[in-house]
Amino acid sequence: MKSSQNNPESFHTTWAMTKLMVFSLLIFLTYISYSIKFVSHSSNCKEKQTLIFTHHPQSIAIFNSDPPPPPFESPKTNISHIIFGIAASAKLWNQRKNYIKLWWKPDRMRGVVWLDKAVKTRSEDEPILPPLKISSNTTKFKYKNPKGHRSAIRISRIISETLRLGGTEGVRWFVMGDDDTVFVADNLVRVLQKYDHEQFYYIGSSSESHLQNIHFSYNMAYGGGGFAISYPLAKELEKMQDRCIQRYPGLYGSDDRIHACMAELGVPLTKEPGFHQFDVYGSLFGLLTAHPIAPLVSLHHLDVVQPIFPNANRVKALERLKGPMELDSAGLMQQSICYDKRRSWTISVSWGYAVQIFRGIFSVRDMEMPARTFLNWYQRADYTGYAFNTRPFSRNTCQKPFPYYLSNTTHDPESNRITTVYVLNRTSNMTCPWKMADPSRIHTVQVHKRPDPNLWTKAPRRNCCRILPSKKTGTMIIDVGVCNEDEVVELR
Ligand SMILES: *[C@@H]1O[C@H](CO)[C@@H](O)[C@H](O)[C@H]1NC(C)=O
Ligand SMILES: *[C@@H]1O[C@H](CO)[C@@H](O)[C@H](O)[C@H]1NC(C)=O
Ligand SMILES: *[C@@H]1O[C@H](CO)[C@@H](O)[C@H](O)[C@H]1NC(C)=O
Ligand SMILES: *[C@@H]1O[C@H](CO)[C@@H](O)[C@H](O)[C@H]1NC(C)=O
Ligand SMILES: *[C@@H]1O[C@H](CO)[C@@H](O)[C@H](O)[C@H]1NC(C)=O
Repeated sequence: MKSSQNNPESFHTTWAMTKLMVFSLLIFLTYISYSIKFVSHSSNCKEKQTLIFTHHPQSIAIFNSDPPPPPFESPKTNISHIIFGIAASAKLWNQRKNYIKLWWKPDRMRGVVWLDKAVKTRSEDEPILPPLKISSNTTKFKYKNPKGHRSAIRISRIISETLRLGGTEGVRWFVMGDDDTVFVADNLVRVLQKYDHEQFYYIGSSSESHLQNIHFSYNMAYGGGGFAISYPLAKELEKMQDRCIQRYPGLYGSDDRIHACMAELGVPLTKEPGFHQFDVYGSLFGLLTAHPIAPLVSLHHLDVVQPIFPNANRVKALERLKGPMELDSAGLMQQSICYDKRRSWTISVSWGYAVQIFRGIFSVRDMEMPARTFLNWYQRADYTGYAFNTRPFSRNTCQKPFPYYLSNTTHDPESNRITTVYVLNRTSNMTCPWKMADPSRIHTVQVHKRPDPNLWTKAPRRNCCRILPSKKTGTMIIDVGVCNEDEVVELR
């Protein structure tokens, strides 16, 4: 604690000294330029002038004000520039392939599912799933982790094996995922568009579990959440990976083997918070209703957590997200917070997924924290277990939110407005002795929003929500969109 209090002070001191030095340098350079002008005017000696300039290239840069190098220009990255490598196992294939069907677009996407051995295929699946391949034999590699499984070696080699298959013309990015990872492909593209694919990039995210990150690394991209490796980096990895793998027989998984090789290549993890490993148990409700202000890229461990909508199986529940995903993928799961001041309610919208109404006024800084509807990876409800702040899912009946889940999505092309409808999830006892308006009288929430495909080309900012007058009793109508000038979410 003490050293962290001292550090800023020394930082300021250094900064002040740096400023002084920069200032002195500027005075010096001004003096030089003045002298040069003086020399060139007075002596008219070209040779001397050239000599001075060649010895002070910096001064040329300052005084001739060359234009800065052109910004990175190349056609924008789109889905055709990505090749997927999906890690799968024959044992779970029949069940897991349904997650892939949710997001795979065979006419637009390239990629391969890598299996440990052949599976029985169905002819109706073939046109709607990626091609299947069997990974090559890895018995020659050492594996010495007592808890893990040696399939980790096979899976860590997926990028290299995909590259060796050929047919990678125009590929800019290799994206890895598991058979139980669901990608929001448009948002994956939005994230990769920000980076120069001709450079070395390793992009993904860490685990929700603080302990997992301590055991593995905070600098590792977790494989199930998915990660992206730029083409030139994949080529470099392919050249050295088989030797690299032999140096780490004791590691547990495939993603820590990739991380070890990235460390040897000197390439750090670029963190994008929209990749979700979801190392949690229970309900994702708290996490999905307080998503970071970043595009939602992936969901993982969908067999471990509860279905994301009540009274639906896992795959059917995820299918329900397709409506909002197709109409406005950029806005999917984005949170906005507003107040019904007349009734003293706090409203939180997680666009395309759920709305919550709370009795009372909660600050935005509380509402943007995920509520602990989940247990950590060690199956404990311990708040110190996470790599981010959380808040309790209130035990007090009066402070429990009224959750409304997405039930219908429609788009009106004339007004270019999307209407998402959310219906109250009634739980057994919602009565509360507080003498204030009771949200249970609201059974439906309608949210209007215009599609905003360029949401993420601007600096990240939360959308605003506004409660509109409603003539239908029991229905609340909300508008969500870019905040207006001076529109701040204020308590009162
Ligand atoms: C993707 O970008 C390439 C240019 O690199 C372009 O030729 C192609 O039409 C684009 N594809 C889509 C689906 O936008
Ligand atoms: C893999 O190779 C080893 C020898 O290197 C061999 O014994 C084994 O049968 C092979 N496995 C498969 C599945 O082909
Ligand atoms: C969704 O809303 C539209 C328009 O109100 C309606 O026609 C349609 O039947 C609704 N679908 C469901 C599943 O409720
Ligand atoms: C919605 O209701 C189901 C039971 O019908 C319950 O298990 C679930 O926790 C509820 N969701 C929330 C966010 O309270
Ligand atoms: C519901 O909760 C309220 C407040 O906690 C309590 O007074 C009431 O007895 C409960 N009703 C039932 C049916 O459990």
